[in-house]
Amino acid sequence: MIGKFTTNKTAELTIDGKTFSLPIIEGTEGERAIDIRHLRKETGHITLDSGFMNTGSCASEITYLEGAKGILNYRGYAIDDLAENCSFVEVAYLLLHGHLPTSEEYSHFSNLLGRFALIHEDMIHFFDHFPPNTAPMAILSSMVNSLSNFYPEMTENPMEDIDIMATRLISKVRTIAAFTFKKSKGSPLVYPRHDLSYCANFLNMMFDSPVKPYTINDDVVAALNKILILHADHEQNCSTSAVRLVGSARVNLYASISAGISALWGPLHGGANQAVVEMLEDIYASDGDYQTYIDRAKDPNDPFRLVGFGHRVYKSHDPRSRIIKKACDEVLVALKVSDPLLDIAKELEEVALNDEFFIERNLYPNVDFYSGIIYRAIGIPNNMFTVMFALGRLPGWIAHWKEMWDDPDWRIGRPRQIYVGPKHRPFIPQEERDKESR
Ligand code: ACO
Repeated sequence: MIGKFTTNKTAELTIDGKTFSLPIIEGTEGERAIDIRHLRKETGHITLDSGFMNTGSCASEITYLEGAKGILNYRGYAIDDLAENCSFVEVAYLLLHGHLPTSEEYSHFSNLLGRFALIHEDMIHFFDHFPPNTAPMAILSSMVNSLSNFYPEMTENPMEDIDIMATRLISKVRTIAAFTFKKSKGSPLVYPRHDLSYCANFLNMMFDSPVKPYTINDDVVAALNKILILHADHEQNCSTSAVRLVGSARVNLYASISAGISALWGPLHGGANQAVVEMLEDIYASDGDYQTYIDRAKDPNDPFRLVGFGHRVYKSHDPRSRIIKKACDEVLVALKVSDPLLDIAKELEEVALNDEFFIERNLYPNVDFYSGIIYRAIGIPNNMFTVMFALGRLPGWIAHWKEMWDDPDWRIGRPRQIYVGPKHRPFIPQEERDKESR
């Protein structure tokens, strides 16, 4: 297992009059866990924890977040500092290597991103065979899985240079994302350019056209950098856990990341950013009647939830939502865009934050609440929002996959269960079953 733990404290567990001593381990920031790794062997019992509300699946050096205080640090650096001062490429490097790059390391990493940006020409034909209106996340996960066949270096040598491995994937996913958008519009593909920065290159591939050349806007590039940084990692969330779990079977990076993309697609996870804008559009269409949505969210008999609110870990402000709200204001001013959805979002937030239902349950806006409004302002359509999230989350997924792969304490992920089905019963031959059913 990674890192060092304080293990001079123990917890006592008594089962059927017999007491067991369990080590208490402590992380760098003082968070504590009861180490139950030998529990089953010693006591014959397992633990049951649906949704993993109390279960640590690994020790990790990548990201620290403290939900109660709204803290999020990547490799020890506060998210506010990184979002304010770094490019997405620097943060990707940080997540993968554990330190911010020197200028030499940065230019090596950036050059690799430029060098690996193309995808095999045969892969481009794949886009033609998805049915119209295929969800971009379905295309993305399929294409990423296919990369393992087109670029088998990784599967043949899973321990190849981390920079090559990561930049090949980060760069190609950017190209696949932009091509998915172009294909969905029936527009000609725009190939990556070596002279552009990561975000500028992506925007150019998305929006340049032979009949309307795209002008790169520094404010838009800055907003995109910020938004991708905010999404770059979030410790053991659903998609990252999926990447680690699938990767724990020693499957290649591409297949593991493809699993992460599928998990992220879910409306309770990455799909929420699209759902937020759809909800705001519905409110706009109903003349701004947000109260109905608040009332529905509070109704215990209605499954509806106020999308973009609540978080499994943050029971206080999500630090990312603060940064994204400010970025949202900035980008709309810079682009001279006025979006009524932003006004509705702000009113909705104000009402919810002062409503007892949301206060009692510690429900605050999460990162998805404002991100979609920035994407709209940039010109990215709703169905591409979750793809944007995936683009941002990639360095985190890769860093976790690598950490899991290198962990000397690694084991295939294989949870246990409590069986509650029928007890053993005698087999009934089909003729007898038929007789019984007559
Ligand atoms: N609107 C209304 N009520 C909510 C909301 C919400 N968005 N979120 C939670 N609640 C309520 C629940 O109904 C529950 O109420 P109860 O105690 O009366 O039964 C209570 O708050 C606790 O909710 P849980 O479902 O136990 O919280 P959990 O930690 O399991 O879920 C989740 C977290 C899935 C994010 C949830 O808040 C949610 O569904 N939010 C809306 C979807 C969303 O925005 N997802 C994006 C998450 S961020 C990300 O993935 C990047």
